[in-house]
Amino acid sequence: MGNYLRSSFWKPDIAIDLGTAMTRIASGTRNLFVVPSIVRGRSVLRSGIIRDDSSVVELLQPLLYKVRKFGIVRPNVVACVPSDASTAELDAVRECIFKAGASTVFIVPEPLAAAIGAGMDVASPYAGMIVDIGEGVTDCAVIRSGKIITKRAVRVGCYDLRRLLTKTLSAENKICISEDEAERIVRETGVSRTALSAGWITFPGRTERRRSTESISMPVKEIQEQIEPVTRVIVDVAHGLLQDLSPGIGCEIIENGIFLSGGGALLKGMRERFESRTHIPVILPSKPLESVVTGAREMLPIVALLNKRI
Ligand SMILES: Nc1ncnc2c1ncn2[C@@H]1O[C@H](COP(=O)(O)OP(=O)(O)OP(=O)(O)O)[C@@H](O)[C@H]1O
Ligand SMILES: [Mg+2]
Repeated sequence: MGNYLRSSFWKPDIAIDLGTAMTRIASGTRNLFVVPSIVRGRSVLRSGIIRDDSSVVELLQPLLYKVRKFGIVRPNVVACVPSDASTAELDAVRECIFKAGASTVFIVPEPLAAAIGAGMDVASPYAGMIVDIGEGVTDCAVIRSGKIITKRAVRVGCYDLRRLLTKTLSAENKICISEDEAERIVRETGVSRTALSAGWITFPGRTERRRSTESISMPVKEIQEQIEPVTRVIVDVAHGLLQDLSPGIGCEIIENGIFLSGGGALLKGMRERFESRTHIPVILPSKPLESVVTGAREMLPIVALLNKRI
């Protein structure tokens, strides 16, 4: 009891998902805070990697201050990192969170948190697969009896879909589009290869020929073809990992399905692309953007227990 009073009772526990596009913070009692991972107009992460430590501290400091108990007691933090993070990346995340005002920092792999948040029974002795498609990282893991048994990540995500579209439109069609327009186009066209692909999309773009912004119409299918190389990398992460599994684990995943999370899971046709590539049912949770932080929040009581023992 003495230990308990010293640690978890007095200290607020919070979960942090430090994402390439968005940073999400959740605690057991308070609402979810979501802020863009941007400081002074610049993204603080690229492909899930911290670009500049001091900017990350600047981003997190006010958020960690908000959750202090009585305005003074620093929180215990559970933070998520991509499953392929190097020791240096992991140390950088831990260090930044300490500097931003944490009392203790416990790091968990992002796909484990995503699986819990997406509703997978991670404690089951039968394996399940999670694929988190974020802004800069696609992280895939097979989880069984509460542990990641195998994983694969690529530093490719929604950002790369937009970047490829912007580059290809410029190189092949001599059309320049804004970042916001690229985001809208990718969301509207999606990544399907079936019926969804019919029709045309209209967007404002600057043409080389006229050097002015005009309304441009292109077949949805053509846009999807342009982003297809990145779409394929994302879908192939899961497919490649499945191919390397033993038949027994493969069968367990067929039974349990593949859970998707992250913003990329919301792209039109993404779920179908995974289903047609793997022939395994795909489960899309109701709030895939929040899976990681809600999963990490569910781990807080376990971490509080661990802290108590330390
Ligand atoms: N409703 C939506 N439909 C389609 N795409 C969406 C939607 N909402 C978000 N996205 C895409 O998801 C991206 C952000 O995804 P997410 O929040 O999972 O990334 P992140 O966690 O910040 O990044 P990472 O985990 O890779 O570090 C957005 O930039 C956008 O491109
Ligand atoms: Mg993420």
